[in-house]
Amino acid sequence: MTTETTNATVSAPERASAYALEGRDITKSLPLGGQRIEILKGISFAVRHGEFVAIVGPSGSGKSTLLGIIAGLDSPTTGQVLIDGIDITKMSEGQLAGVRNSKIGMVYQAFNLIPTLTAQENVEVPLYVGKHQGLPSQRAKQMLELVGLGHRLKNRPNQLSGGEQQRVAIARALVTQPALVIMDEPTGNLDKANADNVLGMIRGLQQQTGTTFIIATHDPNVAAAAARAIRIEDGRIAG
Ligand SMILES: Nc1ncnc2c1ncn2[C@@H]1O[C@H](COP(=O)(O)OP(=O)(O)OP(=O)(O)O)[C@@H](O)[C@H]1O
Ligand SMILES: [Mg+2]
Repeated sequence: MTTETTNATVSAPERASAYALEGRDITKSLPLGGQRIEILKGISFAVRHGEFVAIVGPSGSGKSTLLGIIAGLDSPTTGQVLIDGIDITKMSEGQLAGVRNSKIGMVYQAFNLIPTLTAQENVEVPLYVGKHQGLPSQRAKQMLELVGLGHRLKNRPNQLSGGEQQRVAIARALVTQPALVIMDEPTGNLDKANADNVLGMIRGLQQQTGTTFIIATHDPNVAAAAARAIRIEDGRIAG
């Protein structure tokens, strides 16, 4: 049991906590064969509102696992995730879905676009959930133009290149103007020009809207653009 009191009665409308995100001693283990493998071995960190933090580390070190837990898509075995001071590990599936839609934009390592929908429709989807400003079709179109895909609105994912799918996923993550954006290798499939575009968008959003970015990356340009890097090695934060 903890004796934290910060969660219960917060009345500040936007920022309940000094931190956009906190991880407290997060572990993740999974059964494999007759044993349990430990993927995350106790990870604690805090990210301030408007910060741009890179998550770096070798392949298999646990970055995607950590991002999935932070985004509320997976639950930790032990430990807590606080988004703007609210512990999401104690939420019901319904509450969590609401937080994800209103506060978090996520770009997955394997894009996760809906195969039967066009690029524009994929970007519209989050706007039909919960309350958002503007006409979904218009907003989706604008976002796709911003990522250089104004000429591919009607293509379905299998009619798009890997880099184009990635940009649709980025547009989808940003279209709701979330306060917290979590990206897993957002530039992994992009050429230099598009990687620069994406990085430019991230910087622009960060400066203009105070969006918080947590980005797992192997791309040295992305890591260099971040204010700081959290390095994960073998399921732990490396000093
Ligand atoms: N569902 C699962 N069952 C068993 N092992 C898993 C599962 N998911 C991930 N792992 C293992 O956990 C470790 C961490 O995986 P994770 O995908 O988080 O790494 P990563 O740091 O994102 O790597 P990369 O840089 O290659 O994307 C890996 O060794 C992986 O094999
Ligand atoms: Mg990964």
